[in-house]
Amino acid sequence: MFVVIGVTGGIAAYKTVQLVRTLVTNGHEVHVVPTGDALRFVGTATWEAVSRNPVTTSVHDDVAEVRHVALGTRAELVIVAPATANTLAKMAAGIADNLLGVTLLATTAPVVVAPAMHTAMWEHAATQANIATLRARGVHVVGPADGALTGGDSGPGRMVEPDDLATAALAVTSAGGDLSGLRVAVSTGGTREPIDPVRFLGNRSSGRQGAALAVAAAERGAEVHLVAAHVDEGVLSAAQRHPRITLTRVSTAAELGAAMTAAAATADIVAMVAAVADFRAAALSHEKLRKEEGLAALDLVENPDVLAGLVAGRRAGQTVIGFAAETAADEAELRERGERKLRRKGVDFLAVNRVAWDAGFEADDNRVLLLDAQGAVAVDAAGSKRAVADALWSAIIAARG
Ligand code: CTP
Repeated sequence: MFVVIGVTGGIAAYKTVQLVRTLVTNGHEVHVVPTGDALRFVGTATWEAVSRNPVTTSVHDDVAEVRHVALGTRAELVIVAPATANTLAKMAAGIADNLLGVTLLATTAPVVVAPAMHTAMWEHAATQANIATLRARGVHVVGPADGALTGGDSGPGRMVEPDDLATAALAVTSAGGDLSGLRVAVSTGGTREPIDPVRFLGNRSSGRQGAALAVAAAERGAEVHLVAAHVDEGVLSAAQRHPRITLTRVSTAAELGAAMTAAAATADIVAMVAAVADFRAAALSHEKLRKEEGLAALDLVENPDVLAGLVAGRRAGQTVIGFAAETAADEAELRERGERKLRRKGVDFLAVNRVAWDAGFEADDNRVLLLDAQGAVAVDAAGSKRAVADALWSAIIAARG
């Protein structure tokens, strides 16, 4: 999401550094617009480093680009943190004597303000009247919190903690999302079936596409349960921070099956993105197997098909989506394999992608054909795994009606 963060001249500006970091880590594109006074507390270099974007304060920079209008119109969310009494007064009056003021007038995105000031200033009738005006105009006011103030006294006036502010601000943007009110269960990653204490049967699934699907659903308003099998921390970081995502980590197919069956019991949509091992070792050795003792063959037994169980136990109105990574010579073969699997699995949708030694895994980009229950292509999605996730959700939501 394209987020503009306005920073005004209060000591709490140092906390906004953490807010910017959190949003950037969660994959958002953040542009910081400090007021001149804000830069007396935290300088341009810090804002540029944490946001990874250039920072300007003047309406006269990048005039050719009409920067204030560009920022305001591109913004999907504007957060003013800290919001001083002075800036709140200017916002209430529509004063635009700096880049932040102009940006705020140019935007139609949701605006969240996090007031920070001394209690006396917060409680002053002028500030309270300005807050009432802003609220009436649809501005979301988060805080201030009650607690110790910079001067040593205490009372309402502290800026809310940055991670809580990020949570509150993101909740504002997705409240009206097209998945709000829906419960979604997503599995991702690849299971590992132990052979002995040091070895396992595994696969190359990185969990990126499933994590992107979970984050996209949450950002579009869904309550998400993400079941992850062996997914790197970095891949899960955005999901872990999202307030509407519950994360369960699993290892084996049996654990994944139990977690997904529990999550599916209350879910409206179930997406089995995880690569589940089809087989496990018939006998688990509690000692490391040694080659001098001979390891000619490994006896395997078949794992239950988790997806088949979910389809069999499907609740009324529940949409079940399977994923299949297939090797195929061309698109026709990919579709044909996909259609056969779709019928065999009895799912509402099957997302198929072509994989090879050098395609499909661990990459940031993906191409997925979403087949509906009739085998027709509901969407042919390509791009970043997040873009693919959004395209899949749009098609699935459209089909659910
Ligand atoms: N799946 C599952 N449980 C299994 C195997 C697969 O739930 N034991 C799910 C996957 O999560 C995926 C779908 O089934 O959503 C398709 O997985 P895939 O491995 O392609 O299916 P298989 O039935 O194992 O077919 P293949 O013989 O091609 O491996």
